[in-house]
Amino acid sequence: MNILAFETSCDETAAAVVADGRALRANVVLSQADMHALYGGVVPEIASRRHIEVMVPLTEQALREAGLTRPEIDAVAVTCAPGLIGALLVGVNFAKGAALALQKPLIPVHHIRGHLAANYLAHPDLAPPFAALVASGGHTLLLDVRSYTDIGVLGSTCDDAAGEAFDKVARVLGLPYPGGAALEALAESGRGDAYRLPRPKGGDNPLDMSFSGLKTAVLNVINQAAQKNETLDRAGLAASFTRAVAEILVGRTVRAAEIAGRRTVVLAGGVAANGHLRAALREALAAAGRTLYVPPPALCGDNAAMIAAQAFYEWREGRTAGMDLNGRANASVSG
Ligand code: KG4
Ligand code: ZN
Repeated sequence: MNILAFETSCDETAAAVVADGRALRANVVLSQADMHALYGGVVPEIASRRHIEVMVPLTEQALREAGLTRPEIDAVAVTCAPGLIGALLVGVNFAKGAALALQKPLIPVHHIRGHLAANYLAHPDLAPPFAALVASGGHTLLLDVRSYTDIGVLGSTCDDAAGEAFDKVARVLGLPYPGGAALEALAESGRGDAYRLPRPKGGDNPLDMSFSGLKTAVLNVINQAAQKNETLDRAGLAASFTRAVAEILVGRTVRAAEIAGRRTVVLAGGVAANGHLRAALREALAAAGRTLYVPPPALCGDNAAMIAAQAFYEWREGRTAGMDLNGRANASVSG
């Protein structure tokens, strides 16, 4: 079952082909980051317009890389939610056109379910049930993945997403957009105990999280240093911030695995590329007698291969769409 998938929910335009949810045949990602860097963040209309320009050549490149002709595609999949609505609509409409032209099923995929499925591409032995942490620019979710399509939410952020906090702190440290990777590089030469930062709680649910107070604390450190005319240890602040985020995420994830009673834990989303988080979570879970699965960094960020992988399991459950499929800016991962 060769699935051709598209992902346009934010500022990456992506097309990919995956066979039977596991075998990667082609994975083409075009990042628009440098177009948005000028503005310090994603400009939705620019994102949509760029998706329109590159969808066709990107799809042709994916088919070439897969070594497949159009009739050899068995289904078309697309990210239908959540994300920037204008950007999503480009992919949804393009996928409808492709499914109509090829006379093949159309499979809608939730973006966060796609992030989880990046792990199916990387780990042939991985299968639900498992507990999962998905940390991206828009979401921070602790999930109980009961089956490929039956997913419950155990906890989430009450304010900023973890990736959003990375991007905002990177910005105040004068790093270019997108900030996560640049902040990680800066943190490498700093000490994680250089600054004392809070670990805010997220409310009544012990598995909820909060990152906005941490971001404000970083801002205060920077402002106080400026007022006192002290030199800021930028690398130390980046490392201390990373350690604080990782501690919040690691503690909640270990607890989530215990509460859900899962021995296997999956990490996914753009923030999963962070080396400190990967190592800290692996160590804490091993100490708790649990096993961590993480995709390689190249599959952590937005891509269409993860959408094609999840699409296979959605299709197996008969979760296809008609030509009235619409995009949605917000939608629960539980579906
Ligand atoms: O999943 P993703 O590519 O897009 C969304 O669905 O939002 O996640 C992007 C987020 C950004 O906030 C970015 O700064 C963060 O992932 N990120 C990182 C790293 N690489 C990307 N955060 C921390 N460390 C990294 N190495
Ligand atoms: Zn994403």
